[in-house]
Amino acid sequence: MKTIDELLAEGVAGRRVFVRADLNVPLDGATITDDGRIRAVRPTIARLAEAGARVIVASHLGRPKGAPDPAFSLAPAAARLGELLGTEVAFATDTVGESARATVEGLADGGVAVIENLRFNAGETSKDDAERGAFADSLAALADVYVGDGFGAVHRKHASVFDLPARLPHYAGYLIATEVGVLKKLTEDVKRPYAVVLGGAKVSDKLAVIDQLLGKADRLLIGGGMAYTFLKARGHEVGISLLQEDQVPAVAEYMERAEKNGVELVLPVDVLVSADFPDLKTKAPANPSVVAADAIPADQEGLDIGPETRKLYASKLADAATVFWNGPMGVFEHPDYAEGTRAVAQGLLDSSAFSVVGGGDSAAAVRQLGFDENAFGHISTGGGASLEYLEGKTLPGLAALED
Ligand code: 3PG
Repeated sequence: MKTIDELLAEGVAGRRVFVRADLNVPLDGATITDDGRIRAVRPTIARLAEAGARVIVASHLGRPKGAPDPAFSLAPAAARLGELLGTEVAFATDTVGESARATVEGLADGGVAVIENLRFNAGETSKDDAERGAFADSLAALADVYVGDGFGAVHRKHASVFDLPARLPHYAGYLIATEVGVLKKLTEDVKRPYAVVLGGAKVSDKLAVIDQLLGKADRLLIGGGMAYTFLKARGHEVGISLLQEDQVPAVAEYMERAEKNGVELVLPVDVLVSADFPDLKTKAPANPSVVAADAIPADQEGLDIGPETRKLYASKLADAATVFWNGPMGVFEHPDYAEGTRAVAQGLLDSSAFSVVGGGDSAAAVRQLGFDENAFGHISTGGGASLEYLEGKTLPGLAALED
């Protein structure tokens, strides 16, 4: 994989460099609530601009349906990028149309432009190779060189991620190089004990990674909504908690395999329950009760791990040498259910382990709960991408940068 340093050594002054970033940031209306992904790709864009490139930044945002939709405009992300770079960033109101062409033509050496959400064009995500290819051809006409730096999207076989690099000289940006370097440490030469904390709502999203980890990790700590499917597989009733009944047999098989492989599979011993899901807008007090994990009342829902579990999980992280964490332990957006997720974040900080926080909700939680993100070994910008990497899958956006 050629890196951006090789591109810089070749010289980029005056060349049009297409940077595929992941500016898919959470928005509240037009307000960005977590700009971590924009900050993470800034060094690549800044370095290219300093070297005199004409930088065209492209990304998806959300999941619009292949047509323009103002709710998913990249305009707020472009504005934030301009603030972070301390320069003006031009914005094209389409992807490969009149506005994009004129905006790119108007770029001076060292200038930066963002084009509108790539998913406003159906070709970006199409399953049809020809349709994706046609969109990639149009994108290729805007640029001379491709830099892949949207780590969060490398698991997507999309036009700008997979097809476009085949049409232009291509290089990996700083963010992709860093992310891959860190994930290699977890797959190739992991320091033990290796503890993995998995949370989040759906166990079905995590089955493939659990399958891999049963041959790699020393400890697997389970929290979040998916924990209730594990508790059910252990024979406990879970009230009205999130449950994927159809996954119970698979989870039971994993529990057996963990035991056979000597992997310590740790489940909550107590949980916070309530009959009602909390109001995340008003954040009105939820007054949950603490119950043992094998005594969840029939009319109650588990919404966070309990205080004994917090202590237990912290103790399992304390002497680990490597920790990977993906997925919150509860409904951390509500203060009454944030303590489990906070305890895991704190456990990572208190341990001398090399700690990697998977992207998505756990990365957002770390920042929203007020932790200093620099205190963690690495906070990935890719939730799905980092999980699929750990699953051992070939990621289209990385494969495309290889040759
Ligand atoms: C993410 O948020 O995980 C990435 O930006 C990919 O987004 P997607 O799941 O909509 O493809």
